[in-house]
Parts: sequence; structure tokens; C-alpha cells
Amino acid sequence: MPVSDEDWAVIHRKVTQAGLLPAKSVRERLLELPDIDLLIDAAKSIGKKGMLDAATLDALLGEMKPIQRPVKEENVVARTIAPVSAPEPSPAPRMHELDDYRLVDFPMKAKDIDAEISIHFDITGKSVTEGRKEDIRSCFNDRLKQIRRLILDGGLPNRPMKVNELLRRKRSISSVDEMATVIGIVSDSKNTKGGHLRFTIEDDSGSVDCMLGLWNEDDACSDIVHSGLMDDDVIGVTGHFPQGRDDLRVDDIHFPPLKMHNRNTAGEDRAVSVAFISDLHLGSKTFLEPQWHKMIEWFNKDPLAETIRYLVISGDGVDGVGIYPGQERELNIPDLFNQYSTLGTMLQGLPEWVDVLLLPGNHDAVRPAEPQPALDPELQTDYNNTLFVGNPCDFSLHGVRVLSYHGVSIMDFVSSLRTVTFERPEAAMKAMIDRRHLAPSWGGKTPLSPEPEDRLVIQEIPDIFVTGHVHGHHTESYKGVTLVHSSTWQDQTSYQRMLGFQPKPCILTVVNLHTHATAAIPFV
Ligand SMILES: [Fe+2]
Ligand SMILES: [Fe+2]
Repeated sequence: MPVSDEDWAVIHRKVTQAGLLPAKSVRERLLELPDIDLLIDAAKSIGKKGMLDAATLDALLGEMKPIQRPVKEENVVARTIAPVSAPEPSPAPRMHELDDYRLVDFPMKAKDIDAEISIHFDITGKSVTEGRKEDIRSCFNDRLKQIRRLILDGGLPNRPMKVNELLRRKRSISSVDEMATVIGIVSDSKNTKGGHLRFTIEDDSGSVDCMLGLWNEDDACSDIVHSGLMDDDVIGVTGHFPQGRDDLRVDDIHFPPLKMHNRNTAGEDRAVSVAFISDLHLGSKTFLEPQWHKMIEWFNKDPLAETIRYLVISGDGVDGVGIYPGQERELNIPDLFNQYSTLGTMLQGLPEWVDVLLLPGNHDAVRPAEPQPALDPELQTDYNNTLFVGNPCDFSLHGVRVLSYHGVSIMDFVSSLRTVTFERPEAAMKAMIDRRHLAPSWGGKTPLSPEPEDRLVIQEIPDIFVTGHVHGHHTESYKGVTLVHSSTWQDQTSYQRMLGFQPKPCILTVVNLHTHATAAIPFV
């Protein structure tokens, strides 16, 4: 049976199970969708069932979340996306004259500074889960314990009680003067017709239904009513049971506190830079190879590049094989080993003073469940100056703490929180920091490995937080944390074109570890 028939069988089953009957005329288009689940989600969200013809498919694609469009950013010149077949790009602009990124801030060259990398967390070689129910229970109990401690550190209006105690004392918690607080895990979050937010809170003693009302737009909680909550968030709630009601009327919600983060900096005698990219997707026909060589040339010639001591690649270095139906039609390197050896060769063009940290993503040849371990040693043979780490990886460079996470869970944040869109992945990153978790929802788009200790909890606030995966680009300081959404090196794919999704490729983000000044350098 040809591969496309096998792919079609899977898609056909999923689509029909969702109550849609695919017409022959849309078969090819459906085969080109890397994630049929997104389409099914869109159909469910508007209650669409029945014949799936071209018009219905167009309507469903239009129902998907708002998608990425070009956004004006500081320090990024206006540009259009170059196709792979474009003529050789012109030399990179001399971007080191940026106002906030001056060579005078770098008294020494990166080649004169010894590397100083400390790894605080990397799952490689440390995964102990057997995927049993007990492991899942233990992972969630540990998450609850860790985030509960953080919430308690922030102070609460009263001593939190267990859910079973709350239910037992319901009659005495019947007014705003007698409110009680519980801390637990969220499920079934949804808005009512009146715009209020309903959800359930559960701890190891029981569960209670909650109602967070949109009583007052000025209320601090109104933002949460508008955004919604993630399944499996850990939060505290303070509220009471109005007479005759079994659901807790929530008057306040508690997340772990985050005051302005006091970021660490490398000493003046260690004033070097770290650069960030992600999602090269080498091996795909849409890998932007001329733009890659343009960056390599810049690295070897530009004075600003002499300040860059590290390059962090946050996953999807290669496109992989068998990642989505019909992928073989989009590859120009169909062999996985060949993809990795070509990536190693491409990286060898970097100056010898640049150390690379390479994480895996969902396209890489490691288990998809997060936390993901580093690439297998047999795939590492063609690399120089490269440190292979897991995803996520929490590490320090000259004392500056960096949390790098590929970012698959951004899709769960987009489908769960109304304030997050693919156009603004930084909103998902802020939501991760606010709830101190990289991927809270079990059973969503992000495969999770139930380790007995939940290491997707953000235990220490990083100085730099970096993600990729959705092929956008953004830099911002959020509550003292430097946020970097790393740019891709892949041109718009046919799937993205069909969705009208505009990636922002070929932008190198550079951060001065001494001052935290950032620069975004385009190579298009
Ligand atoms: Fe990617
Ligand atoms: Fe990815």
C-alpha cells in the first residue's frame, strides 16, 4: 500500500470520528495538513458536522486561531520572505551600530573568554518514569506540592484548607466575611453564557466546583475570566458558598507571586553575548540555505560576531522523518542520519570561539514526551564545539540563568487561553512564567512524560527565557526576565501558506550577558 494511502486511512478515521464526511475533492488538501487535530478542533468549536467539501474546509481553516502576520519590531528591518530559489542574498547589514548594542560595551573578544556553562536541569539519562498510573499520580502530587509552596510564599488571606474540609464546613463559609481558601489543580475550565468562568479544583482529598464571576470589570480577577485557565493549572482560590449553592463563589485567585525579577549579569570582565535561533528544519525543501550561509559569513566577518561566545538552538534543528503525513514530499534530505550530519557540517562554518548548545524539539529523533533527552550519541558524531542537551534545559552562562524550552505547549496555551494566539507566542511565555509551569495540560497537544518529580515546573525564575516552535520572533523584558522567541530558518511551508501563516525567519537574536541589551539581526 503506498504511504499516502496509509496516511489517508488515519486522517479519514479521525475526521469521520469527529462527524465529518470528507469529499474526494479535499483529500489532497487534508493530506497536506501536518496536524489534522487542529482542523478537528476548529470543527468542534463551531459544532460543524456533515460533509467536508472544499467550502467547508475553507470555512474551518478560517475558524482556526488568528495566525501570524508581520509585526513591526524594534531593530528588525522591514523585509519580505525569500524563497529557497532566491538569488544569493546580499551581505548582512552592519547592525552593530544599534543604539542599545554598542561594541564599546564589550571590552574583550569572545575568543579570549573561557566557556562557563553550568547545567541545572537536563533530563538526559535521568528519566525514571515507567509511565504507570502511580507515576502520573506522583508527578501531579509533586507539581501540587511545588507550586503550593510558591503560592504560600506569596501570602494568602487565610490558612488554606483541604477541599474535604472546605466541603465539610460549607455552611459556615457562606458569606464574604467567612471566606476560605483552597489550593488545587484546575480542570473543566469553561465560560458560561453570562461570561463567568466555571472550573473545578481538586486536591488529594476531593474536588469542588467553582464559579469566578465577571461581576466587576475592574476586578483583578476579570483578566482571568477573560483569558480562562489551563487544564491542570495549580492555583489557590478564596471564596464562599452563597446560601443554597454547592459551588464555591470565587472572590480571589492566587498564582505564585512574581515581583520584578532581579536579573543576574555576567561580570564586566565576562561581557560576551549569547545568540539564539531555533527551528532550522534542515532537510526540508524550505530550509533557507542561502540565508544560513549569509549568517555564517557574518559570523566570520562582523565585529559584533566577535562578542558572541554561545549559540543556543532551541529544537527542530532538522525536519526529521515521519513527523507528519506526507512529509516525504517536503524533504530534500530524506535520510535522518544525513540530515543530522549535514547540520553538523553547517555548524562547522561558525567561528571556533562559538560554543553551540543544541536542544531537541518535536521534529528531532528523540522521544516526543517532555522533558526530552538530548540526541543519541550516534547522531552527534559530525559536530564540533556542540553541547547536546535535553528539552527543556535550565543552565547558566557566566552566572546568567537561561531556561530554553522548544515550546510545543504554546499550542495548548493558544487553544486554552483566549489571550494567547500564534501571532503572540510571547503571551504564552508570560503565561508559563505566571503559573510557573512550561506545559501544564495533560492530554493536550504536548506529550508529557510523568516523571515522579515534575521538572516542567519553573522552579527558579530565569534571567533569559527562550522558546521556539511556532516560527515567530520576539524579544521583550517581562517582569525583569528577558524573553526571546527565537526565529526559524525555514521558509513558509505549503501548510502555513494554506493557513495564511507568515513565519518570521532568519533573525539572529543576540543578548549581551553583561547588560542584557538585545539585538535582532535579520539575514534575509
Ligand atoms: Fe519547528
Ligand atoms: Fe517544533
